[in-house]
Amino acid sequence: MGRIFSGIQPTGNFHLGNYLGAIRNWVRMQDSYENFICIVDLHAMTTRPTPQTLQTHIKEAAATLLASGIDPEKTDLFIQSAVPAHCELAWILSCLTSLGWLNRMTQFKEKAGKQREQANLGLYSYPVLQAADILIYKATHVPVGEDQKQHLELVRDIAGTFNRQYEVDYFEFPEPIILKTAARIMSLRDGSSKMSKSDPSDYSRIHLMDDPETITLKIRKAKTDPEPIAGNPKAMENRPEALNLLGIYAALSDQSLEEVCLAFEGSTFAPFKEKLTAQIIMVIEPIRQRMISFLKDPEILENILKKGSEKARDLASQNLSEIQNIIGFLKT
Ligand code: TYM
Repeated sequence: MGRIFSGIQPTGNFHLGNYLGAIRNWVRMQDSYENFICIVDLHAMTTRPTPQTLQTHIKEAAATLLASGIDPEKTDLFIQSAVPAHCELAWILSCLTSLGWLNRMTQFKEKAGKQREQANLGLYSYPVLQAADILIYKATHVPVGEDQKQHLELVRDIAGTFNRQYEVDYFEFPEPIILKTAARIMSLRDGSSKMSKSDPSDYSRIHLMDDPETITLKIRKAKTDPEPIAGNPKAMENRPEALNLLGIYAALSDQSLEEVCLAFEGSTFAPFKEKLTAQIIMVIEPIRQRMISFLKDPEILENILKKGSEKARDLASQNLSEIQNIIGFLKT
């Protein structure tokens, strides 16, 4: 049985992209793998949240994951900062990572923007901590959305460098799992940028906490074009917003994009949007209701996270000790 590791940043505003691109896949894989799902609060620190905001968002993340179907009996759900070995390994790996590799990371370039000199060091070394997250558990598979692909290639490069440097076969090369449907859900306002927590417009994304009225309004306002829906995706290549909505419908209804295009061929977007709205509400509303009840009972959340963190700590410290032996640290 393979071992899954994946993570989500507790930065609030969890959206349909997070759900379809990542969370739902984690839920569906629970029976086939040994699972570690981590709320990566150390990564969230790169956004410099206040202590109050960070705590609220960590609880929200836990509630979101449990409400979406993460089962603590099958998945070890835990908080990154509760397992110190992540940071310890991150330092070791940072000494094996060249600046040239980090300079190529597109996510850093996007997030730092034009103010590169002002960006914090944590944002720059973010992918090294991500590598440590995965490698400390010797995970074999990492299910993520497409935006994480480059980071995962770096993880494999770092694992290879470690093995070569110390002439060992210690780290496996973790395989990304990026499912074709919903690998990249785009903004509802601009089909060329991904649906993202940090987009200033609330109308660009559907939050998992949106109520049915909000969802209806956001889909009604979602950008489309006046053309009817074509019978196959190829014929819609230059219509990114239209394709994105069809893609969301396909993912939510577990169909291929081809099937959805064929089913709605010739229709305009007004009737399609009604169907899409109903489909989103059918999937999101029960999750929202469960989130509300989890958030009312923080003690349940805290107990689950505590248990998960204990188990993660055991495995991580055992592996860290092996790594320290390989490196030649003198244990005192
Ligand atoms: P984060 O918190 O930004 O996103 C969590 C997951 O959601 C996916 N995702 C999307 N998928 C499809 N369409 C979208 N519009 C969309 N937006 C987000 C992301 O790909 C991700 O899988 N760096 C990671 C967190 C992390 C991690 C790790 C992941 C830290 N350590 C180790 C895997 C393994 C991140 O930024 O997630």
